[in-house]
Parts: sequence; C-alpha cells; structure tokens
Amino acid sequence: MEYSRRKFISFMGLAGIGVFLTPKFLTSCGSTTTPTAGYNTLTNKKIEALKTIVLEGLTPSDKDDLLLANGLNYHTIIKWQDSINETNTFGFNNDFTCFIPLDENNPNDGLLWVNHEYVSPLFVSNFINSEENELEKTKEQVDKEMYNVGGSIVRIKQEKGVWSVVKNDPHNRRITAKTPMKINWDTPIKGATTLIGTNSNCSGGITPWKTFITCEENYDGCFGETEYDVNNIVTHRPSWLGWEKIYNYPPENYGWVVEVNPKDGMAQKHIALGRFAHECCTLYELEDKRVVAYTGDDKNNEHLYKFISSKPGSLKEGTLYVADTINGKWLALDWENQPLLKSKFKDQTEVLIRVREAAKILGATALNRPEDIEIDPITGNVFISLTNNKTKNDFHGSILKLEENNGAFDALTFKASTYIAGGEDNGFSCPDNLAFDLSGNLWITSDMSGNAMNKANKPYFPFKNNSLFVIPRYGKDAGKVIRVASAPKDAELTGPWFSPDGKTLFLSVQHPGEQTKDLKNPTSKWPFDSDNIPKPAVVAITGDLIEKMNKLSIIEA
Ligand code: FEO
Ligand code: CA
Ligand code: CA
Ligand code: CA
Repeated sequence: MEYSRRKFISFMGLAGIGVFLTPKFLTSCGSTTTPTAGYNTLTNKKIEALKTIVLEGLTPSDKDDLLLANGLNYHTIIKWQDSINETNTFGFNNDFTCFIPLDENNPNDGLLWVNHEYVSPLFVSNFINSEENELEKTKEQVDKEMYNVGGSIVRIKQEKGVWSVVKNDPHNRRITAKTPMKINWDTPIKGATTLIGTNSNCSGGITPWKTFITCEENYDGCFGETEYDVNNIVTHRPSWLGWEKIYNYPPENYGWVVEVNPKDGMAQKHIALGRFAHECCTLYELEDKRVVAYTGDDKNNEHLYKFISSKPGSLKEGTLYVADTINGKWLALDWENQPLLKSKFKDQTEVLIRVREAAKILGATALNRPEDIEIDPITGNVFISLTNNKTKNDFHGSILKLEENNGAFDALTFKASTYIAGGEDNGFSCPDNLAFDLSGNLWITSDMSGNAMNKANKPYFPFKNNSLFVIPRYGKDAGKVIRVASAPKDAELTGPWFSPDGKTLFLSVQHPGEQTKDLKNPTSKWPFDSDNIPKPAVVAITGDLIEKMNKLSIIEA
C-alpha cells in the first residue's frame, strides 16, 4: 500500500499540518525515550524553521562502516571488553540505551544504561557452534557467556562535544546473567522470591521515577523453555546456548520486565507485566500517578499487551490486558474475573507465567512480531513496530498506530491502523527501534536478519545494510522515510536515545561481523581496532543536523 503525503498528514494528526497542540501528557516525563521538556516552547516560528531543514539521505550501502548523512558525525563512547572499573568490562551485543543525568540541570553528565542482549559464542567464549561439533561447552565458557549479557551502567560526561566514560566511577557496574534479583510479586516463581540473573535484554524503557527498564526477550535461547501439550504434560525444550547443561535454572526465571535502580544497581522483576519475549516496555504516568505500560511480544503471531496500575507508581497492583486489534479492545488477563482462564490455570501467577496461552484463550490478535513502542509526544498516538512475519509472507513489516479512546491511556478500547508499511516504495524494511526527538520527528532503525541481508535471492537485497531512518514531521520531506545512517556489515543499529538537550543521539551498533566463521577472516572489522576483531559499541551521533532537527540551533528573531 502506498502512502501519499496527504495520507501521511492525516495519520500524523493535526500537528502534522502546523497546528501545535500542548496536551497535558506533555508535562509528564519519562513516558517516552524523549524528554518532554521543551515541547511547550515549540512555537510556530520554530516549526517554520524546522520546515526549512534540507535532508540529504544516504543511498543503501553494503560498505563495512558506520556511514552518516551530511551534518552528522560520530564518536565511539564504549565498546565490548572496555574496562569500566577495576573488575568489570563492558558486555557484548549492546542494544537499548538510556541516559539519565545525575543532576537535572546538567545534561552533560549522567548514567548510561546499556542492554547486552546475547552473545556470539565464536567471539565471546571461543566456542565453535557447528552441527559437526559435538564438544560440550565448558563451565568456563558458559560463565564467560553469562558475564557478557545483561546490562552495564556507566557514568559518562561530555566535554568539548565528546562523550567519554568516567572510568572507575562508583556508579559503574555490570548486571549479568548471575546477578540475583527480587520479584515484585507475592507468590514465589518456581519456589523462589529471588531469581538468578537477567538475559536476552533487548530493548527497554524508563520509569516516571527515573529508573531503567530492561526487557528479557529471547530468553528461551539461554535455559530453554517449559512447554505444555494439550493434556498439560510438561516437557523442556533445550536452548541453543546450552547454559542449562551447567546451571539448572528454571526457564520461568526469565521472560520478564526488569527494573534497575541507576544509583545502586538493585534490580527487580515485574511479574505483573507477564512472561513472554518482551521487546520493550514503554511507560506513561497518568495524572493520578497510576502507570500504564505498553509491551510487545516479539515472536511470530504473538501479541501486544498493556498493564494499567490500580495504585500510584505500582507495577504490581493492577491489570494486564492483551490487544484485540481487530475489534479495538483491551482484554483483561484476569484469572479472578475470566472463567475461561479459571478453568485452565490454577491462579493469576500461572496466567502470568503462561500468558501467551492465556492471551489466545481470550481471543488476542496475532501480530507480526511487535518490537519497539513509542508514544507520539504531540498527538499521544501509540506507535508499534511490527518488524515482519515470514510465516505470513510479511517480509518488510510495518508500523502500527494505535489511538486510545478519547486519548486516554487507561482506555479499554482503541482504534488501530497501519501508519506506514516497510517495502521498496517507502525505502525501509523490518522496522525495529523507534524514538521521537524533541521536535516530534520519528527515528526508526531496521533489523533485517544477517543471514538474509545483501543476498541476491532474498527480498532484502535492495535495502543493503541495516540503517537508521528519520521521518521528518515538518517541511517538504514531511512523511518521507530518509536514511541517515548505514550500519557496518552484518550489524543492526539499536537503542536510539536522545540526550536531554537534544544535541546527541546515543546509538548502539550491535553484532557487526556476526556472520564471521573464522576469527582470522571476520566479515566486518568495525570499529577498526588494532586486533581487527569486530566489536559491538555505543556511539554518540552529534552535529548540525541533530541540533537542527531538535530545533535547538534555531534562534527566534
Ligand atoms: Fe531483540 Fe525483537 O529484537
Ligand atoms: Ca529489537
Ligand atoms: Ca525506543
Ligand atoms: Ca529485531
């Protein structure tokens, strides 16, 4: 389906045609990746200035480098194996990033959270993963892999336009697959109230009370999964990493939304938000301080969820809903009040652990792999990346737009429509992370899988390497998808997050050179270290274009 400019404007809402709205949610902070301070000062004059920005997009490229559009430049803040203090190093495959200033009045000094989603054994534990290889991983190899996932907290400072890590700062710490963490729930999970570690940390979010949220996505890759047949007979499906051969941790320990306190690193798992392949969790604080949390399950034909708390600031007391996007209804995953759930599960805890099954019993809509979720800070519409679903011949994905009834985030009905579709017409495929900047422009990263990119016989061939795109909100390019960064070979750009002053875009470069079979001949050498080994890294993207897009260099007459 083609989207004309006219259609785009109607999708965006009134603000897209220059009428500036200041709905009350703009004063709430922490609800999106974008700090909301500043919206109220976005005058019509600034909007006029935004309209004059000239964007020169990149053409698709298969070059092994991080390429940027004119007006942008980057420097590397931290990369895999860099030491953060005397005992710890930065983990592998960085995804979600989130920056929280230590002092609200100083945007140049704060704590950066970075997710470490998974490991490539060839690089991390030197384990060659091939079918002919019958060697079992050693405990040391598994320990190395478990150390390199989870997340990092590092204090970073900006001086003269360059961000760098404050080495040995007392805030610097690692959260790994072995860090103990409590559950925020009254019933133990598999008999435990403290669970060991976090893994598969893909994207995340920020709470209104300024803590980090990190989400456990493809957790079944680490300790496998418990499966139930029609007669409720249980089997264990093994993981691809095989950690359960060394550590017998129950799969039920994983697949949760995890909250991390930036100041002391204490983490807790929010059971009430359900257990599935959480891509992200996007929180919104209502006027009465209750919280709404949107979270999607990134698996073919799985679902979109929303938790609404019944008490201020609680991620425990409340109800989890799942979306029926056909009829525009949020369906309550509430054991007490849903006879269908009562007849299948023994209590609410079991509903939450096996929430995928519960969702299907209630008639949830099968979606094409929900990834990141962001709330448009100008219209309040909720945008959800549906990355693709090859089982339904959806190769390029789309972005779903959800309008809650009367714009109320705690509404139980909504309208869903496709905002924009991936494909050659719109110049992008497989949308993943989303971020709105300070002016309400939408930034999108793509995640075409490494084994399908740049292959002449695959539908992804024309798009070349994964990239970062922006959809400008104003001006002659409004509604167009413009490629502004191109990733190194095999990599995916993840975790876009704007600094509070809008002058920096933090971005992860994840899994460069992932298709490497031989360390002596890697498919990528980015970031071009002397050892020639590709390394996941977090970069800071700065420059005139970022500042203009964030309306900062536009001085009012
Ligand atoms: Fe880890 Fe759904 O991307
Ligand atoms: Ca993702
Ligand atoms: Ca995001
Ligand atoms: Ca993805």
